[in-house]
Amino acid sequence: MGQIFVIGNQKGGVGKTTTSLNLGAALTEFGKDILLIDLDPQGGLTLHCGYEPDKLELSIYDALKDEDLTNDALLETKFGAHLLPANVDLAVSEMELINSVARERRLTAILNPIRDNYDLVIIDGQPSLGLLTLNAMTAANQVIIPIACEYLALRGVDGLMKMIKKVQGQLNSKLKINGVVPTMFDRRTNHTEAVLKQIKKTFEPEIKVYDHIIYRSIRFAEAAERQKAIIYYAKNIPGAAAYRDLARELIRAGEV
Ligand SMILES: Nc1ncnc2c1ncn2[C@@H]1O[C@H](COP(=O)(O)OP(=O)(O)OP(=O)(O)O)[C@@H](O)[C@H]1O
Ligand SMILES: [Mg+2]
Repeated sequence: MGQIFVIGNQKGGVGKTTTSLNLGAALTEFGKDILLIDLDPQGGLTLHCGYEPDKLELSIYDALKDEDLTNDALLETKFGAHLLPANVDLAVSEMELINSVARERRLTAILNPIRDNYDLVIIDGQPSLGLLTLNAMTAANQVIIPIACEYLALRGVDGLMKMIKKVQGQLNSKLKINGVVPTMFDRRTNHTEAVLKQIKKTFEPEIKVYDHIIYRSIRFAEAAERQKAIIYYAKNIPGAAAYRDLARELIRAGEV
């Protein structure tokens, strides 16, 4: 059965969308069939993939309402993965879902018929622990948690862990935490080094903190603006190598 990973952290701006896209691009480069799901009404992943969220004919909003539309809503990306895009309509889905039957399982229902067409489905989560995130964790096999090596990095992580435990207990006993990916690492400051130590102390040994640290680089924002994956826009920066290494490690471990 096709694997489903959610890239989750309710803290904003920690690199969820960047990790979703670049991990997806690196895995595609290694021959894997990848579906990216934009599960954020901001549509950041959709935009990064080269599509204007406001101009979509169909989006994940339509698929969540009528699963027969899921295939029609899929888009191709320049780097070969498929994308189920999102725009601000998804915020309406969240409200509509509240009153629906099996409201935590809508995303599972639309992914079940298509997940086997892919080696991996990557869900880019929104920065909240609301119903959309609950849907993502109910549908997923594994969670990858990007954490920025910055001030207050671990703030809110408790809430995320509690939610994962609750999902494991009540909705999806198969959900595992794959690991933590440290992002926004800045080698010029001692502070980031200290934060990285703190991240490791918090999670290890129960949860793996990847050695493939994503260094801070302005190239990431430039790549997003030019709607390119970092492995094609600035393939020689450490961050591009790190996403490739992370993809390689997931393949080697048999996760994808
Ligand atoms: N390693 C990095 N170095 C520098 N900038 C980065 C890096 N990774 C991502 N960025 C930039 O930081 C910003 C936030 O990243 P991103 O959108 O991936 O975070 P996010 O967790 O998805 O945010 P949100 O919670 O708003 O969805 C973007 O402008 C992105 O281009
Ligand atoms: Mg995002």
